[in-house]
Amino acid sequence: MFHDPELVPFQPPERYSLFRQLSNYVESFPRSTYEEPYTRVKLPIGEALFVCDPDAIEDMLVRRAGLFVRDRATRRTLSRVLDPRGLFLAEGADWRWQRRAVTPAFRHESVVGFVPAFAEAAATQVAAWREVEPGTPIDIFAAVSRLTFDVVAKVLLGSPATLDADRFSEVLTLNMQGLPWEFLYAMLRLPSFLPYPGRRTMRSTTAYLQHEAAKVVAARRERPSDANDLLGLLLSARDPETGRAMSDAELTANAYTFIVAGHDTSSVAISWTLWLLAKDQATQDRVRDEVSSVAGDAAISRDHVDRFVVTKRVLQESMRLFPPAPILSRQAQEDTSLGPHKVTRATRIVVPIWSLHRHRELWPDPHGFDPDRFNPEQVKARPRFAHMPFGGGARVCIGASFAVLEMTTIIASLVRAFRFRPVPGLRPRPKAEITLRPDANLRLSITPV
Ligand code: HEM
Repeated sequence: MFHDPELVPFQPPERYSLFRQLSNYVESFPRSTYEEPYTRVKLPIGEALFVCDPDAIEDMLVRRAGLFVRDRATRRTLSRVLDPRGLFLAEGADWRWQRRAVTPAFRHESVVGFVPAFAEAAATQVAAWREVEPGTPIDIFAAVSRLTFDVVAKVLLGSPATLDADRFSEVLTLNMQGLPWEFLYAMLRLPSFLPYPGRRTMRSTTAYLQHEAAKVVAARRERPSDANDLLGLLLSARDPETGRAMSDAELTANAYTFIVAGHDTSSVAISWTLWLLAKDQATQDRVRDEVSSVAGDAAISRDHVDRFVVTKRVLQESMRLFPPAPILSRQAQEDTSLGPHKVTRATRIVVPIWSLHRHRELWPDPHGFDPDRFNPEQVKARPRFAHMPFGGGARVCIGASFAVLEMTTIIASLVRAFRFRPVPGLRPRPKAEITLRPDANLRLSITPV
């Protein structure tokens, strides 16, 4: 078990505050969410129920998944960024058919084929870092974001010539800055035409991003290719029940959803993992030893990834302490109860994944870093929904296998090549935008090994 005060980046407030929610929503989860199974909170309009009871979470997401949908405020906020026709925001029959059609493309057997592409992208980063003066502090999140963006562009979209990766990433970051305001307005049920700082930028950047995604789909229609990428799989996807294919609008919405949902989450998780390994040098050595003994100097392959047991446990533990998607929320479609609590259609039901993953009743020594928590005996002894970086149930993350393979390949490749060390005096803080991004202090010094 590794301890460091920096693994507890802030103290939770005694009471929920909408103001804290606006500046950094993980910091708004009240202390009781780390200690109690349920916390009821009054909102300016309506109420929220924070749920950290794994049985009730399972009940909501698995057993009674049909009764609970994404909550109104989240849907309204995310529809400013993601096209509502895509898989992430669709509901009901529209969601079901898209999910059925896309699922085969995301199965483990399909996505293992991408491991060589993940390894190649990581090798390019290794080569670039070898040019850097040893010991130079590197902005890890900036570098890894670019890396995962390249992976998504290549593996999901077949490296489209029309996509300017630098510009797209830059605009995406600008675009997300309006989200806390959008969320506040949604919570307060204010009309969406009201101004806020950065509203025009938000609208124009969304339009740019969606237009770029549409260009990618149009270019592919014009020049069909049999490339083994996800866009190709989406184009040929058919609803197994009806045989229906996706329209261009649905394809664009999904291509865009996969770029946004698939690149930021992974770069956030890889960055926090490298930071934790920089802090805990002994575990970093364990990862490096494992990678060297399984893969030697060879390019990382799918068989290697299967055998990276320690590396994958490190990743799971890192996503426990710094879950890339630190919240999940729902609302019931009719008045019902959840655990001992009555919920109405107006109750915002929040699973504060960040607090759940540090809950004192679910995790011994909750703020310590210990990848061995993910050995099979310990996993079996815990409720399934104590750890849920990818959500769960019907709407579990469709990219989970893709992401785990990608992140494991990249972490293994980077740690095999470099020793990562913290830069004295820099203390990174997590800031929840949509994902739990590190601030500019996530710099690490790297030295080739
Ligand atoms: C570390 C990486 C990732 C994390 C932590 C993550 C997390 C999540 C979570 C928590 C959800 C459930 C949200 C909810 O139930 O409200 C979700 C859904 C989703 N994720 Fe991921 N995700 C990751 C990577 C990816 C990747 C690589 C892709 C695609 C290439 C992706 C695409 C999606 C989509 C489309 C959904 C919506 C699924 C549906 O509603 O049917 N994610 N993700």
